[in-house]
Amino acid sequence: MTTGTPVLELRGVSKSFGAVQALYQVDFHVSAGEVMALVGDNGAGKSTLIKCIAGIYPIDSGQILFDGKPVHIHGPKDAAALGIEIVYQDLALADNLDVVQNMFLGREETQGLLRLDETKMEARAAETLKSLSVTTIRSVRQTVAGLSGGQRQSVAVAKAVMWNSRVVILDEPTAALGVAQTRQVLELVKRLGEQGLAVILISHNLHDIFEVADNITVLRLGQNVGEMKRTETTQQKVVEAITAGALSEVPGQAEAVA
Ligand SMILES: Nc1ncnc2c1ncn2[C@@H]1O[C@H](COP(=O)(O)OP(=O)(O)OP(=O)(O)O)[C@@H](O)[C@H]1O
Ligand SMILES: [Mg+2]
Repeated sequence: MTTGTPVLELRGVSKSFGAVQALYQVDFHVSAGEVMALVGDNGAGKSTLIKCIAGIYPIDSGQILFDGKPVHIHGPKDAAALGIEIVYQDLALADNLDVVQNMFLGREETQGLLRLDETKMEARAAETLKSLSVTTIRSVRQTVAGLSGGQRQSVAVAKAVMWNSRVVILDEPTAALGVAQTRQVLELVKRLGEQGLAVILISHNLHDIFEVADNITVLRLGQNVGEMKRTETTQQKVVEAITAGALSEVPGQAEAVA
């Protein structure tokens, strides 16, 4: 159930680190209600792409559009103001704090929530988890240290979607999880799409991707080498694109094409 204009679009985005061309003229887009998988081998440029979206790295050239309008994202605050939230692989939850404290952590100043009382915060956290059908966390006053990997991932996702987000980016959300917990998180990813969010899912696990993604963008050596509809492709075709997708020539880096 995707709609019209992409929420987020990259046009011809390039980014290099010294001699390394991490991204070369990459086009990428994601719409409301769409789960877009971003795949590619190690070093393909996936993390660099999302860090450009997050404003952590400035882009060298190209354009980022939000709701069809060019935007300049200079840092995580700009990204958050647009409603772009990223759940990084290392989760960045504080073990010694409880679920509610974690979900409000770092938001107090920006959202003027210092005055929100504990009861309201607790209710808001519980409500968000419930809206995502996260039912296995018994108490939102439990410290995060006592949660399973899947529950932690759910809290990190809930934290990301609690702030009127429009785009949620998940970097390898199931990498450290067992079978049952992976299932739990994949269900959550599906639900985010169903609730109308634009979701970008980075994963090396094609099985997971084929379970939840609507579309798949393949990066290889910093280039977009293919975009496929999940229902119109196969894991084998995606693997072929990841390992041997056709590249255009990067000026000064002819060896990458050989
Ligand atoms: N801060 C940096 N400084 C220099 N080079 C970098 C930096 N970040 C990434 N690179 C290089 O850019 C290229 C793309 O890296 P990136 O981390 O985006 O890949 P990735 O697709 O996320 O890989 P992985 O699946 O291993 O996480 C690699 O060649 C990497 O070495
Ligand atoms: Mg990476």
